[in-house]
Amino acid sequence: MKKLNNKVVLVTGGGSGIGRETAIEFSAQGAHIILSDVNAVGMEESGRLIRKAGGTFEQHVADVASRRDMEALAKEVKNKHGALDVLINNAGIGSAGAFLETTLDTWDKVIDINVKGVVHGCHYFLPDMVAAGKGGSVVNLASMAAFIAPPDMSIYTTSKFAVLGFSESLRNELAKHHIHVATICPGVINTPIVKNTVMEGASGQGELREKAIAMYQRRNYPPQKVALAVLSAVLKQKSVVPVSPEAWLGYYAKRWAPNLVERFGRLELPFN
Ligand SMILES: NC(=O)c1ccc[n+]([C@@H]2O[C@H](COP(=O)([O-])OP(=O)(O)OC[C@H]3O[C@@H](n4cnc5c(N)ncnc54)[C@H](O)[C@@H]3O)[C@@H](O)[C@H]2O)c1
Repeated sequence: MKKLNNKVVLVTGGGSGIGRETAIEFSAQGAHIILSDVNAVGMEESGRLIRKAGGTFEQHVADVASRRDMEALAKEVKNKHGALDVLINNAGIGSAGAFLETTLDTWDKVIDINVKGVVHGCHYFLPDMVAAGKGGSVVNLASMAAFIAPPDMSIYTTSKFAVLGFSESLRNELAKHHIHVATICPGVINTPIVKNTVMEGASGQGELREKAIAMYQRRNYPPQKVALAVLSAVLKQKSVVPVSPEAWLGYYAKRWAPNLVERFGRLELPFN
């Protein structure tokens, strides 16, 4: 029997990588999927895969950083479905660069998408979920970079620490409404994320992007495994969910061997 029959699930950033695979897994469990993304072409492909597997979906071009887009999307969803059962705030971008070489424009861009995008999803969709009184789930995509802070990634790390902290507070606040909040913290996952990562200063020089892309491909940890972790977090009401061996290692090492983590944090590894 399918576990999410007739549930309505929104996935931001559903046109690629982890978002696409998550949409496919939730669809396979019977959920109706609402894809949103700034990338219409990517969403078409996600939709094609869901349709091919017999699922139902709709797609909306919406920028999570835009209040106007997210408000309009929430109104459309409310008119059609009432309230969401599961909100998955997945859309995000990477960034790399020494702090002294980053620009404030990049800070604004990454925080607007990675942090405010999550806040916008919650701001515009949660009131209807609470009012519907049927409970539900919110899943926020953070990262292993929500607890391990490598050098030259201060913007991305800041954004993911923020997502983890926001989710912790929200979880405690929403418990009385039977709305569960999960934070997913993947390690290095083989998606196209590096292609669109903002790389500044020395990080943007030479072939570093190509090298990082090759490293992600060699690591080859599939986004399907993250999607299964998201599904499990919703079905089993998990709170903080590292995904991949390196993410689990970082999670426990931070608690048990913080000095080691600090030394490790000085190694230059392209986490995301
Ligand atoms: N790939 C990894 O190694 C990794 C690791 C940890 C966490 N994450 C996080 O997982 C999430 C998904 O990443 P991914 O690896 O699937 O990346 P991806 O680049 O494959 O997919 C991200 C999707 O988000 C969309 N998007 C970007 N900006 C948007 C915006 N302003 N509004 C709406 N959609 C937007 C993109 O168009 C894309 O379709 C991100 O939050 C990322 O930070 C990824």
